[in-house]
Amino acid sequence: MNAPVRVALVGTGNIARIHAEALRGLGDRVDLVAGVDVDGVQARSFCQTHGIPHAGTDLGRTLAATRPDLVHVCTPPGAHLDAARIALAHGAHVLIEKPPTLTLRQFTELETAANHSGRHVATVFQHRFGSGARRLRSMYEAGVLGRPLLALCHTTWFRPQEYFDVPWRGRWDTEGGGPTMGHGIHQMDLLLAILGDWTQVSAVARRQARDVDTEDLSLAHVTFADGAVASVVNSVLSPREESYLRFDFARATIELTHLYGYGEDAWRVTPAPGHEEAVLSAWHGGERGEPSGHRAQFAAVLDALAAGERPPVTLAEARRTMRLVAAIYASAFSGHPVGPGDLGPGSPFHERMQGGGPPWRLIPRQEVA
Ligand SMILES: NC(=O)c1ccc[n+]([C@@H]2O[C@H](COP(=O)([O-])OP(=O)(O)OC[C@H]3O[C@@H](n4cnc5c(N)ncnc54)[C@H](O)[C@@H]3O)[C@@H](O)[C@H]2O)c1
Repeated sequence: MNAPVRVALVGTGNIARIHAEALRGLGDRVDLVAGVDVDGVQARSFCQTHGIPHAGTDLGRTLAATRPDLVHVCTPPGAHLDAARIALAHGAHVLIEKPPTLTLRQFTELETAANHSGRHVATVFQHRFGSGARRLRSMYEAGVLGRPLLALCHTTWFRPQEYFDVPWRGRWDTEGGGPTMGHGIHQMDLLLAILGDWTQVSAVARRQARDVDTEDLSLAHVTFADGAVASVVNSVLSPREESYLRFDFARATIELTHLYGYGEDAWRVTPAPGHEEAVLSAWHGGERGEPSGHRAQFAAVLDALAAGERPPVTLAEARRTMRLVAAIYASAFSGHPVGPGDLGPGSPFHERMQGGGPPWRLIPRQEVA
């Protein structure tokens, strides 16, 4: 049996609690050695609550003292890149919360730091790891479902104005974007995990009702390399909240309806006439029972590290998702369809998700709220 993987957490706020609980759920595969936060009181209280022996306020010093194998980056997005660089420089692999960076430029810098260090960087996109999503992917790959034709990817959530009182939220410079970057990114990542490379995006983004700098809703039409098309909606203005994904393949419709995570009962499978037996026997015969969530992804990360493989979600896959986010902003703010080739270093949307700025940048925030 492998020795436990030594894990340190940096940023000990809300999501770090989910990380600590999920890591505890992995038993003796993990040794949680340190918790670091710029707020020392927060770091100490977090470490005490979760039985973590070393609390620190300086990431470099803490890593030098505790020598973890893996660092989970749970700070606000604006601090992800620096924390990842420090962890890589101390010889640790990195698992970084979504969104991995604020911009595509920063993402390239993260890739460069990972390549120089020889360590791995993975991004948390936990919805890929429930057994329903894994079954769907393997049924598609095995040809059971036929050609993908149409998909719907709706993240219609509700965040009241007070949610944006947290200073880093609702701002391009600290959160990187609104619900496209911060909320719908999970389902868009799952959409891409199933359908693969996208080729074109046409989008609209609006600041409709919240006093924020970013959008509070976006809508996009996405075309995929294999010909499928998807309609994507990202909102924080929707009182009846839902996360909904629908895939219409030639031989079945597969739907997922949930909010922040799913189990088996969140899926619905409707075979096309004549394909009932093949579709339903594959769906009921595959791996079952693992809900989506951090625990499922962390287990997959540990499996990959133990096998000497790249842990999921890899930088290449996270880059594709980040480019889709950038493409939605680029199309919405330029008024033109956008492809992956339009988002290279010469593009303003490579430098900053908002490019030259959204059309509403000149309207005072309080006039919209
Ligand atoms: N995967 C998910 O489902 C999910 C859900 C919620 C949040 N998140 C992501 O998790 C990250 C953190 O979100 P949160 O809600 O926990 O935020 P939070 O504000 O509750 O916690 C962030 C913590 O990081 C600390 N911090 C800030 N800058 C730091 C730095 N430079 N070094 C060390 N500590 C620092 C803060 O003091 C705070 O304690 C964000 O990237 C967010 O998008 C992911």
